[in-house]
Amino acid sequence: MSENIKKIAVLTSGGDAPGMNAAVRAVVRTASYYDLQVYGISRGYDGLINGDIELMNKRNVANIIHRGGTFLKTARSEAFRTVEGRKKAFETLNAYDIDGLVVIGGNGTYTGAHIFGQEHDIKIVGIPGTIDNDIFGTDFTIGFDTAINTAVEAVDKIRDTADSHNRLFFIEVMGRHSGYIALHTAIGSGASAVFIPEVDLDLEDFVENLKKASRRNKLFNLVIIAEGNKNGGAQELANKVKEMYPQIDAKATIIGHLQRGGSPTANDRVLASHLGYKAVESLLNGASDKALGIVSNELLLSPFKDAISLRKDPDSDMIKMSEILSL
Ligand code: F6P
Repeated sequence: MSENIKKIAVLTSGGDAPGMNAAVRAVVRTASYYDLQVYGISRGYDGLINGDIELMNKRNVANIIHRGGTFLKTARSEAFRTVEGRKKAFETLNAYDIDGLVVIGGNGTYTGAHIFGQEHDIKIVGIPGTIDNDIFGTDFTIGFDTAINTAVEAVDKIRDTADSHNRLFFIEVMGRHSGYIALHTAIGSGASAVFIPEVDLDLEDFVENLKKASRRNKLFNLVIIAEGNKNGGAQELANKVKEMYPQIDAKATIIGHLQRGGSPTANDRVLASHLGYKAVESLLNGASDKALGIVSNELLLSPFKDAISLRKDPDSDMIKMSEILSL
């Protein structure tokens, strides 16, 4: 392993995701194992710019593996989008002689890291932390599993009341540009249909299917809506459908930020621990400007450039399956 890295830092950035704490814990403990000094940076890139940084040790990360959110805090930094902001951030790293940085976040976090690494002499590796699961170069991102479990649990509850009243429910989940949360929630909750940004669904066809279903005596329906889909949000869709089919009793529920909170699932804790551990080893092995991921159970290091620019879409066979199973 490389002798060059002696001090590293870790931060979480962008939207929080359950499992980020487990990833930070793994980074800190692996760094200690390899006798590296490790610093925690608060509030993402904003904290790096403002020198909000603290030396950590193995005990600082005790009792956090099961906690949602990020104890380091997070931010969507506007200042880091500027050359001056990034210059200040580098000054902070220099002041502490830090030679390696681990960033945990999504696409925006990686974009910032890539530009920062081009402008300044710092080795950076990224860990995919976002509930959206929309990062190229990894099958799953930290937080996704917890988010879909939370969403499925919520839909199960809505199912009870939908069934009791013979109602149609549009249930909106997160995923700004991506249908992963919606698709997996729909499959996991046995929903009747799903609206995702990656598929164009015709509203008239959808309403026709509802009418057919009602003739077959299917009187309640659960429809999962990805916030980024082209037909509008849950409320908008409920209104449109009521206009087209006035006999139907349509309601809307937005699960919202509930999906981002809560204790991470075992899968998210294990994924986060694995990636945190590998992030430190990758830095020691000389990796830089790279995003970590696990694809088909193999660890993968992709250039940040690819992770940012290449799109990962839900598997078309999963989409077909959700249609077949929904009836
Ligand atoms: O990227 C994660 C995410 O939860 C998206 O699904 C959602 O669109 C967005 O963040 C919401 O961001 P914020 O909490 O900053 O409004």
